[in-house]
Amino acid sequence: MKKTIAFHLQKGGVGKTTVSGALACQSAINGHPTVYVDVDPQGNASSWFLKKGTRFEFADVLQGEANLEDVIVEASKVKNLFLIPTFGVGGSLKNYSETRLAEEPYVIQDLIGELSKDFDRIILDLSPGFGRLEKSALIACDEVITPMTPEFFSVEGLEIFINEIQKTKKNFRSNVKHSKVVINAFDERIKQHRDIFNSASEGQYKVYKIPVDPVFRKSQEDGTAPQLYKSLGRGLKSSTREALEDLEFEIWR
Ligand SMILES: Nc1ncnc2c1ncn2[C@@H]1O[C@H](COP(=O)(O)OP(=O)(O)OP(=O)(O)O)[C@@H](O)[C@H]1O
Ligand SMILES: [Mg+2]
Repeated sequence: MKKTIAFHLQKGGVGKTTVSGALACQSAINGHPTVYVDVDPQGNASSWFLKKGTRFEFADVLQGEANLEDVIVEASKVKNLFLIPTFGVGGSLKNYSETRLAEEPYVIQDLIGELSKDFDRIILDLSPGFGRLEKSALIACDEVITPMTPEFFSVEGLEIFINEIQKTKKNFRSNVKHSKVVINAFDERIKQHRDIFNSASEGQYKVYKIPVDPVFRKSQEDGTAPQLYKSLGRGLKSSTREALEDLEFEIWR
């Protein structure tokens, strides 16, 4: 199904980039051309998948200084994965969101509309926080999926997020769907993780889990898909592989 999905929780370091990037890879590996938009001034998604910088970046399109086709670039090591990159160093995206975005909150939505003429599957990686940039990105999407870690502060963060998303939907008359939560870096052996999964599952959300797996970090250092990363013949744990395949099925149907 044709869809644009953002991965977001305002809390930092919960795995927004890891989960969105791994699922963008899963889609690409399964043969679907997939666009991965780096809506984070830190540029983590771009430094993961691109070996070198490009002439233009996401902020240039937002400012009307480049066209989409000037910016979109295939990942260095993952076929079918296309990036709209952001490079942390220059700070152009941060600068744009602080100076001009307030006057044009629908600019990302327009751009996604343009992109979706050519691509059925679009994923957005968002920065931590719930400011102007994140709101503009969220209202551009059909769905937002929340990655969180199995810890108390993340559970608190999810409550804040649910509140914020409701306000944003109302203020911008957005229909963005929010019905899925991914508990990331899950360890079945830890009781607290199991408890958080169980209590989250009792609510109105569909809750998934992605295991803790050192291959995520290694694949980020190596610039490749976690699914393709191998060192000494070993890659992702089979439980991680299955979790990503299941999620791929769930999120695009
Ligand atoms: N399932 C996992 N197993 C092991 N390590 C993980 C897992 N998920 C994420 N990590 C590691 O945790 C760190 C933080 O993850 P990531 O950068 O994806 O979080 P984030 O929410 O995008 O952060 P930010 O809020 O800064 O954008 C990274 O070093 C990543 O490799
Ligand atoms: Mg990130």
